[in-house]
Amino acid sequence: MAAVRGLLSILLLPFLACSGEATPPAKQPPQPTPKSIDVPATPKVAVGERPQAYMTLCAICHGPEAKGYAADHAPSLVTSTFLESATDDFLFRSIASGRPGTSMAAYGKASNGPLDDAQIGEIVAWLRSKGPAPKPNLAVGPGDAKRGAEVYAKSCHSCHGDMTALGEGISLANATFRQMATPSFVRHAIVWGRPDTKMLAFKGTLTDGQIDDVVAFIFDGLGAMASPPPQQLPAPTGKEPLVINPTGKDPTFSPRSDPCTPGDLACVPNKRYVPSAQIAQALADKRKMIIIDARPASDWMRVHVTGAVSIPHHDPKRLDELKNDGTWVLAYCACPHHLSGEIVDMLKAKGFKNVAILDEGILEWHRLGYPVVAAPGVTPPPKQTEPQ
Ligand code: HEC
Ligand code: HEC
Repeated sequence: MAAVRGLLSILLLPFLACSGEATPPAKQPPQPTPKSIDVPATPKVAVGERPQAYMTLCAICHGPEAKGYAADHAPSLVTSTFLESATDDFLFRSIASGRPGTSMAAYGKASNGPLDDAQIGEIVAWLRSKGPAPKPNLAVGPGDAKRGAEVYAKSCHSCHGDMTALGEGISLANATFRQMATPSFVRHAIVWGRPDTKMLAFKGTLTDGQIDDVVAFIFDGLGAMASPPPQQLPAPTGKEPLVINPTGKDPTFSPRSDPCTPGDLACVPNKRYVPSAQIAQALADKRKMIIIDARPASDWMRVHVTGAVSIPHHDPKRLDELKNDGTWVLAYCACPHHLSGEIVDMLKAKGFKNVAILDEGILEWHRLGYPVVAAPGVTPPPKQTEPQ
């Protein structure tokens, strides 16, 4: 825990610099240098209106006002307790580097995402304008990771999972999260919760000692998922062939529909989702089809379905190259349906008939062991324990 506390006080410095009202932290032993992530500092931009890039890229999951839960358990980005405990640096890096193994992609140009530093800075500034300024976080006492493990198992695991399971709460075992979160940031969330979300304030339910214990467990016991490998696949050139097995036979799919509410006579089955097992079988049988990866290219460069072309939902130029000749087109994302749903809707609007979503999404596809092309060191993500 000592190393963790050392790291903590170093990482606290940006808070102190920001708030201008802080008292220096308690006496600390000499500090080790924290591991740096190669992300440039947040550029200063004026606090303005909601950036267009936020609407195009983020609102689909985090909602138009960034209150979260528009899709896929994407958390709120504007609760008071989050904004007062997260530094600009935490926000910037979370957006730039994403949370590999979840549906939160790396949006920074450094990872071949769509946003340059200034655009990320604008989003950070807009989020900032919606809540309190960061303030010095609570000090973290020395905790006992062993005792913390019991608290975690009883009070946290069902929502936050661990190295082998993702829950509906933010993954605390995610290696990229842990590179940027500090014990005091984590403690702040546990003590005060996140208002208007499922994350309750544990002040009063757990003692200060128990909270220190669980923080110690999160950093020293829970373990981290494998760090994202440093290498990515080469960036898509835009010249990758669209059609897989162009001379093969057409596949036969039996897509399922969104369920109709009983009594809703206007509801027409939309036959929108093809189970991944059928698509894997069609690949094995060398059937003719097109598979579109609808995520930012940075995600395609980590891992994609074998033969899938990168056509991000936010930059769908290559859709114009598709011929409306009856070839089956499947789209997927990690979410599992939202970004791929945008691609499917675009194609349907152009009159394409045989177009559907790969039902379970790429994370489940990868977990099930179906064929992927992955950068060296990328492993299948932990299983999802909550329905999405
Ligand atoms: C496909 C859905 C999706 C999209 C699109 C998306 N996110 Fe996320 N985001 C998530 C999820 C899910 C998480 C939590 C991941 C986890 O479990 O660790 C997350 C986490 C975050 C976090 C960290 C929050 C915290 O409390 O630690 C930030 C900041 C964030 N997203 C910002 C953005 C921004 C800005 C964009 C657009 C550029 C964006 N996200 C696009 C799903 C999404
Ligand atoms: C009922 C489900 C649930 C339980 C139980 C729960 N959490 Fe959470 N937790 C969440 C959700 C959901 C969020 C994200 C809230 C939001 O939208 O900001 C969250 C957020 C957090 C965060 C903030 C992470 C970040 O990047 O912003 C931390 C830290 C955290 N929880 C720790 C804990 C700990 C430790 C426990 C047990 C003492 C616990 N949680 C119990 C659902 C839960």
